[in-house]
Parts: sequence; structure tokens; C-alpha cells
Amino acid sequence: MSDSNPTRKKLFIETVGCQMNLLDSELVVGKLRNEGYELTDDITQADTILYNTCSVRQHAEDKIYSALGRVRALKALKPELTVGVLGCMAQKDQGLILKRAPFVDVVAGPGQLARVSELLVLAKEQGAPQMAVSLPRTSGSRDEVTASFAEYDPIREPAMRPSPFQAFVRIMMGCDKFCTYCIVPSVRGPEQSRPPGTIVDEARALADQGVKEITLLGQTVNSYKHVEGDGRTARLSDLLARLHEIGGLERIKFITNFPNDMTDDLLVAVRDLPKVARYLHVPAQSGCDEMLRRMKRMYSVALYDDMLARVRETIPGVAVSSDFIVGFCGETEASFEKSMRLVDRARFKNSFIFKYSPRHGTKADTLYADDVSEEVKKRRNKDLLDLQTAICLEDNRPFVGTTVEVLVEGPSRSSVRREGRGGVEQMTGRTPCDRIVVFEGNERLVGHIVPVEVEDVSAVTLFGRVVTTVSAMSRGEKERG
Ligand code: SAH
Ligand code: SF4
Ligand code: F3S
Repeated sequence: MSDSNPTRKKLFIETVGCQMNLLDSELVVGKLRNEGYELTDDITQADTILYNTCSVRQHAEDKIYSALGRVRALKALKPELTVGVLGCMAQKDQGLILKRAPFVDVVAGPGQLARVSELLVLAKEQGAPQMAVSLPRTSGSRDEVTASFAEYDPIREPAMRPSPFQAFVRIMMGCDKFCTYCIVPSVRGPEQSRPPGTIVDEARALADQGVKEITLLGQTVNSYKHVEGDGRTARLSDLLARLHEIGGLERIKFITNFPNDMTDDLLVAVRDLPKVARYLHVPAQSGCDEMLRRMKRMYSVALYDDMLARVRETIPGVAVSSDFIVGFCGETEASFEKSMRLVDRARFKNSFIFKYSPRHGTKADTLYADDVSEEVKKRRNKDLLDLQTAICLEDNRPFVGTTVEVLVEGPSRSSVRREGRGGVEQMTGRTPCDRIVVFEGNERLVGHIVPVEVEDVSAVTLFGRVVTTVSAMSRGEKERG
């Protein structure tokens, strides 16, 4: 964080949830910085504390309510402190937040984040909490759309990013799928795709600032559809082709994909555009048709298998990852076994596995009983994770002895293999298939693509050393990594 300036208000922000929230926090901070705030990572020094929240599972909410419990004590010591609760839980809980934490000054849903600075001022001026929770409608006025950062303010805050050369770009907002377990559509509003021209301009501006890798964000990013002025529809494949032209950008990723919308034009675009990562996150959620029906996922296990076969046939060396929910309403041992079998045959690069957490306001919460015990959920979570981990290790082994192209992200956080010799550090980066690589290097490599020969692997990491001769790489070709 930059040198402290006593005239600037100090802002502490904590973000939970998905990449959408990380981007939202970056935009909020970017705007506040221009209005006289500076970031601090010491909560006790802050004049303003913001929580950008998530409602997807109970655990994410509990985390924020307990943080608010601690802030209560801070606020008692420092009454001028301003506290804001932003994002998905603000949208879902609204007035409940003020009931549970009456000292909160601002509650702002995901559709109102561009107004945070104004709301902070109003709360102080009026000495009363401010709540802004309207969501943009598809046919919203320009003001409503602007309030949700649909049209980006170009002000961003690189200090909030994983690294200054990696940035998220929202291409869609909201979700219309209404999977029965999921709160996202009710807290993020209807699905809307941003115009391709706006997205391309934003990506170009980021590239001009030195960004090398962009990750396009949408809840169902491959459902992207925007009808252009001439009546033609721009799809994700069209957008990727346009973004691919931007000089300076080296890598393009996109998350999260919906299995039904994995169309052939998209697969061909991933195959043919060298900057597009050969990595697809396509959550399956379950390997059992009855569970998928109850979840209203709108596909069968057979369709998911076919989709996966098409993906692998079209894109050599592609890595696919998934999400699973275990212990969903009515999940028997037999239905859980079907998820185990799907993980076994699908050979995902990795899977995120979640225990079902009932969400008030969702279809599943009203239609079905949460009838799998916590103990069974835990066991199924562990079994599925153990199976996935064994597969990760097996599938990483063949990388030993190969050379992979690594976009260097920064020093490795794990100190396990850190040697600390003069100027030599453990660095980390990712392959075009999103595999994590750790190798000896130095800070000067950050933001560059380097060839790394893999010497050892674990279930989650490839370990190697930088190959110095360019000829060691088959240039111009996307290799397996
Ligand atoms: N839009 C994305 C992901 C949204 S939330 C998609 O459709 O895949 C991220 C993941 O959280 C989901 O894929 C799902 O696996 C999990 N999730 C969502 N709601 C949940 C709930 N109520 N309980 C447990 N996990 C949940
Ligand atoms: Fe939630 Fe389903 Fe939408 Fe993903 S597609 S955000 S899981 S409703
Ligand atoms: Fe959570 Fe909202 Fe993302 S509920 S997962 S932060 S869209």
C-alpha cells in the first residue's frame, strides 16, 4: 500500500466470495481513492471499514457477521468510524444487517456499488444508516445501469488485483438460470451481457496499462449474447476473436461455463486462438440425473459426458475443472456414488466441492428438506475430494520432463521449497491450462512468459526450473501444459 498521507481517509476492505466480488471491490476502491481515500491493511487505523460480502453458503455469511461483531468494539472506541456492508449478503439480508449490527452506516447491494462514496457521505451527514439495494432491471434506466458499474468507470485499482498485469473484465451481469439451490440470481439480478465494443475498449485500456492476462467474468459466461445495432448477435466466440487482436494481451481466460451452452463455435475459438487459455471451468454439480433434475440444472449426466467428449475431441490438451455439491436434498449413497463415478471418468484438472447449504429464498429451500446430515455431507465431501486429489496427482505425473509455458505471477506464497539464496526466490505462475507451477526465479520475471521444465509434481503444483534456451520450446504452438 502506498505511503501514508495524513490528509487522506484510510479505508480497510475485506472481500469474500467469487471473482465478481473481487472485481467489484477493485472498482469501489478505485472510485474511493479518487475521492480522497487510501487503502490500509490495518483495520485499527481505518476511518472506513467495508465488507464486500457473499451469500452463496452459510459459512460465507457467518464469517462477515462475526467480523462485524469485532467491529462493534472498534466502533465503540472510535465513534467516527464508518462501516459499510456491500455486495450479495447486503442484498439478501438488507434490514437484517442493521438489526444484527445497528452500528453499520451503509448497506449497498451489488447493483448500487458505484454509489458507495455518496452513501458514506450521506450516512455521516444525516447521522443515519443508508440502505441501497435496488437491482438493475434489464430495461433499467441509464442511471440504474451506471449505479451497478455496468458501464465501467475506467478508474480501477491495480493494488487490489492478484498482480498488476492480471485483471478481471466483467462481460455479463446477473443470472437467469435459477438453479434451485442457488441465491445468486436473487442477489445479482437478471442476466445481462455488456456490449462487445465496451468490453474490447476496456480490455485495450487495461493492455495499455501493462495488463497481460484478462479473465472474462460471468455467472454463465458462455451464455454471453449481445444483439448488435445491425441485428447480428455477438457470442462469446466472437468476443474472444476481437479480444485476441489486442496487442500486449498474452492470455485470455473466461469463467464460469454452463454445460448446455458449450457450443462448437466456442470450442473452435478456444482451439484456434493461441492467446485463449485451454482451460474450461464447467461445473457439473452432480453425477446423478435425479439430483440434477432437483437442482434444475437443465442437463442430464449423459449430456454432460457428451459435452466433455466434444471438448476433449476439439481442443487437444484442454484442462477442464468442475464444481460439485454434496449432500443436496434427497442425495442417497447411490446418487453420491454417481458423482464419484463422474469424477473418476471425467479426469477434471480440479474440482471445487461444496457441502449443500440451504439458502433462504431459493426454490430448494421451500421445495425440499435438507435431509442429509452434516456428518454425511462431510464424509462425502472428503471422499470426493480424496478421489479428485488422487486423479490430479496421476494426471500431473506425465508433465515431469516436459517444458511448459508459464506466465509468471509473483513470489510463491508457500515457503516449502524456498531457498533464499542471493536473489533467487521461489516464483509461481500458471500454464496455458491453468496449472500452477513453482520454480526458482526472481521478481524480474513477473508478467513474462517463461519456459519451465517440470521436474516434480504434487496434486496441485508442478515444480521445475526455467529453461534458458529458446530452442527448448516449440514456439508458436500451445503446448500441453
Ligand atoms: N455461476 C456459477 C457458480 C456460482 S456459485 C455456476 O453456475 O457454476 C459457485 C458454486 O457454489 C456453484 O457452482 C455451486 O457448486 C456452489 N453453490 C452454489 N449454491 C450453493 C449452495 N446453496 N450450497 C452449496 N454450494 C453451493
Ligand atoms: Fe447459481 Fe445456477 Fe446461476 Fe450458477 S447458473 S449462478 S449455480 S443459478
Ligand atoms: Fe457469492 Fe455473490 Fe459471488 S453470492 S459467489 S459473491 S455472486
